[in-house]
Amino acid sequence: MPDIAIRNLIKIYKTGRTEVLALRELRLDIRSGEMITILGPSGCGKSTLLNMIAGLDRPNAGSINIDGRNIVELGETALARYRRTGVGVVFQFFNLVPTLTARENIELPMRLEGTGGAVRRRRTGELLELVKMAERAEHLPDELSGGEQQRIAIAVALANDPPLILADEPTGELDSKTGREVLEIFKTMKEKRGKTLLIVTHDERIAKLSDRALRMIDGQMVDDRANSPTPTPTPPAAEDAMHANNGA
Ligand SMILES: Nc1ncnc2c1ncn2[C@@H]1O[C@H](COP(=O)(O)OP(=O)(O)OP(=O)(O)O)[C@@H](O)[C@H]1O
Ligand SMILES: [Mg+2]
Repeated sequence: MPDIAIRNLIKIYKTGRTEVLALRELRLDIRSGEMITILGPSGCGKSTLLNMIAGLDRPNAGSINIDGRNIVELGETALARYRRTGVGVVFQFFNLVPTLTARENIELPMRLEGTGGAVRRRRTGELLELVKMAERAEHLPDELSGGEQQRIAIAVALANDPPLILADEPTGELDSKTGREVLEIFKTMKEKRGKTLLIVTHDERIAKLSDRALRMIDGQMVDDRANSPTPTPTPPAAEDAMHANNGA
C-alpha cells in the first residue's frame, strides 16, 4: 500500500460557458520518502494536481489518500490543519508576506499552529541555517534577491516540519547558481530528513536527483508503469542474512 494513493482524480474548471477538464481520472501512487518530479507541457494540469494534493482546492471527483486518510473528504477545520502541518508548498513565484522580515515569515506558520516562543525561535534559527540565510534574517522580502526569497519560501514551507513537500517550478525563476542552492536544500530534505517530495520542474538537475521522473499530458500521468512506486529496497539485515547463507 503506497503512502499516497490518488485515484480517479477529476478537476473541472468552469469559466462562463466553457469547461476545462484539467485532471482526467488521474492516478498516482507515491511511497513515503520518495522524490518525484513531474514534467509536462503547459496547461496539462501540473499545478492543478499540486493544488489538490496541497488541499488548496477540491477536486470534482476522486480520492487523495494520504497515510490512509482521504483529504478530499476532510471538513474545513481538518483540511486547514492538514495545510498547516501535513504539507509544505513552494511556488515558482515566492509567496512571502511583504511586510514581515525573513525571520517573521518563517515564524508565521508556527504562530498559526500555536507553537511556543522558545521552540519557534529555535526552529526558525535552524531553518535559517539550513537555507543559509541567517545573515539576512532581519531583511524584508524586497530587500532580498530572488534566490534568497526562494530559500526563505522553502524555510516557510518547512516551518511546521511537514512530511510532504510540494514544489511548483521552484527553480524556474532562478539563475543556475541560486538554482543549485535550492537544489541542495531539496537534496538534504530527501537524503537527511526523509521527506516525501513532489516537484513540478523542467530542471534536469532536479529530475536526475529524483527517484522517478513522471510525465503528465492532458490531465493524466502518461506511463502507468511509472506510477507504481519503486520497490522497497531489501533491508540491510535481510541482505546480511542472504550473504551469510550464500557464504555457508
Ligand atoms: N482557476 C482556473 N480557472 C479556469 N481554468 C483554469 C484555472 N486554473 C487552471 N485552469 C486551466 O486548467 C488547465 C490546467 O492548468 P494548470 O495550471 O494545472 O496547468 P500546468 O500544467 O500547471 O501549466 P504550466 O506549465 O503552464 O504552469 C489549463 O488548461 C488551464 O487553462
Ligand atoms: Mg503550472
